[in-house]
Amino acid sequence: MASTVGRICASRLLRIGTNTIPRPVQISKYSTIKGWSRGRKALLTTMGVIAGGAGALLFALEKSISAADLELHPPKYPWSHRGYFDSLDHASIRRGYEVYKQVCAACHSMKYVCYRNLVGVSHTEAEAKAEAEDQLIEDGPNDVGEMFKRPGKLSDHFPSPYPNEEAARAANNGAYPPDLTYISPGRHGEEDYIFSILTGYCDPPAGVVLREGQYYNPYFPGGAISMAQALYNEIIEYTDGTPATQSQLAKDVAVFLKWTSEPEHDLRKQMALKVLVIFTFFTLVAVYWKRHKWSTLKTRKLFYQPPKN
Ligand code: HEC
Repeated sequence: MASTVGRICASRLLRIGTNTIPRPVQISKYSTIKGWSRGRKALLTTMGVIAGGAGALLFALEKSISAADLELHPPKYPWSHRGYFDSLDHASIRRGYEVYKQVCAACHSMKYVCYRNLVGVSHTEAEAKAEAEDQLIEDGPNDVGEMFKRPGKLSDHFPSPYPNEEAARAANNGAYPPDLTYISPGRHGEEDYIFSILTGYCDPPAGVVLREGQYYNPYFPGGAISMAQALYNEIIEYTDGTPATQSQLAKDVAVFLKWTSEPEHDLRKQMALKVLVIFTFFTLVAVYWKRHKWSTLKTRKLFYQPPKN
């Protein structure tokens, strides 16, 4: 159809005598290696082979190192947000926040999340305000130059359990409990890793000696982790009545940590959906437009008339 419309609109183009237009001569200097000397060819081939070999070696080393020892790779779990158009499970985010607040917050900070971020995601505004007011936040200095504590506000960040890294290390046998806000993308395996590490504690295999204050976890690089097992069945009670098994707690806190590191997750996928729909439409328009514009050229026939004399 595009070609028909094109022919009607631009049939004038067809009438231009093709043999009156001078034929352009194509000169290609750049896309050929014919002109190269043998030395240059040999040098470039050698460089290519060396670069390829080095890449393959690095890849093999990386693979063999991360598969070495007794370390386990976390398996891939069927997270409900894995699909291209799947949102996070917001009931799970809310439960994960409860786990973080009641268990992990004793050791781990989460200083890049504010209480206002919870509004509309896992809590209503009134609930988030109540959550903030539950915490005492350091503020100041006041008019006599002293720091003071006050109930939290929506604009406050989650309070940290320790004033600084040294205090955190001193309280945890020298190990530093990392800030959890961006831990999920910060580790290979992301939420699979978080889930595995929280549920993977076991006795050390024969021959592995742990130091004081270390525990064995095959998912942790090296196996000896300074965080004691934090989650057990029924260690907390969920406000929505979900049975708080260890794996449920680990799954919910992993989803919560996924959200804190990627709060734009749902919006991003929603946007992708819109972009796909709109771009599909405009691609079709563009294809039609192109065929329309080219139809006069694509459907013409060129004849060569040899000179008469
Ligand atoms: C008793 C204190 C304590 C509690 C409670 C605690 N952790 Fe930890 N966590 C630590 C310490 C200490 C480390 C550092 C371990 C190390 O480097 O060996 C750590 C490390 C981690 C790591 C990083 C592991 C890595 O690959 O570097 C993650 C993830 C983590 N904790 C998640 C959690 C979650 C989720 C919770 C709550 C369910 C939690 N932790 C509760 C003390 C704690």
